[in-house]
Amino acid sequence: MAGLLVRSATSADFAAIAAVTVATGQHDEWAGTNPAYLGHMLEHGRVVVAELGGQVAAFGAARRIGAGDATVSMLCDLFVDPAAQGRGCGRAMLAELWADAQHRMTFSSLHANAMPLYTSFGLDAWWPLLYLHGDTAALPITKGWAVKPVTAESVARRELDWTSANRLADHEAWATRPAGECVLVSRDFEVVGAATVITSGPDRGMVHLATSPAADDGAAAAAVLQALAQLGGPEHEIGHVCLPAPHPAVRALLAAGWRFEEFDLFMATDPALLDARRAVPSPELA
Ligand SMILES: CC(C)(COP(=O)(O)OP(=O)(O)OC[C@H]1O[C@@H](n2cnc3c(N)ncnc32)[C@H](O)[C@@H]1OP(=O)(O)O)[C@@H](O)C(=O)NCCC(=O)NCCS
Repeated sequence: MAGLLVRSATSADFAAIAAVTVATGQHDEWAGTNPAYLGHMLEHGRVVVAELGGQVAAFGAARRIGAGDATVSMLCDLFVDPAAQGRGCGRAMLAELWADAQHRMTFSSLHANAMPLYTSFGLDAWWPLLYLHGDTAALPITKGWAVKPVTAESVARRELDWTSANRLADHEAWATRPAGECVLVSRDFEVVGAATVITSGPDRGMVHLATSPAADDGAAAAAVLQALAQLGGPEHEIGHVCLPAPHPAVRALLAAGWRFEEFDLFMATDPALLDARRAVPSPELA
């Protein structure tokens, strides 16, 4: 399209990126309005902006996860100012962000332009990612299960052992969010889950949890439930977690009165890029 330019973003673009984020209705704390989030993406990922007629009209960000041939490019953000949607900005930014990426994934919104666009870049839609919320006090604490605060290094070391992905920088960034904390979830002193959680405030809940490959469905569900049940913070403050619809914790949370009004779609070049029965991904960074 004439007058469309895609270029790498710098911190000088943060205000324009924040304006696009707000214009598309995104008001989350960990999003394009937050310089800490954008700084993390600039340092550890790639951020681009699309200019129309010399003005920033859109931005996109991607992050590589894993190493070597198994590296996956996670599309974390793709937002176009409503006045400029449907004019090729999304396609032009994706062509730049995914130029060298063999394995690609994202959590697609239900916006009419999103899924067709990602499909044309080789991704298929596999399962919904549910934005669940509910009363953490409604989740019983099970004997033998413990949730202990630890360092980001400790959590990242477990995740690296279990998945071969080094997520240290992400856990460190999540832990510096307001009320962020890294925890290990154990049953009878055996570590089943390694997570970063938010203990209070509007985002209270789980940001990301890695599950031990030794966990069966019951243990994978319990690791999520216990991390939420033993979250700490104000007892009756709502808790949040994003779960793949096939994750074994979903049924137990719904039965305990948890609800979801929104979901995104996991789209990927290969469904095996994220295990729907075990992954508890952050919606932005997976
Ligand atoms: C989703 C979004 C990033 C896409 O960017 P965009 O600049 O609007 O999209 P583009 O114009 O580059 O491409 C849209 C494509 O969808 C196609 N499309 C739109 N509606 C369609 C429909 N109902 N069925 C099939 N294809 C459709 C268009 O034809 C176009 O494909 P083409 O280039 O082959 O013609 C942008 O619309 C946006 O910011 N939406 C709101 C925020 C959001 O939901 N972001 C996504 C987060 S995952």
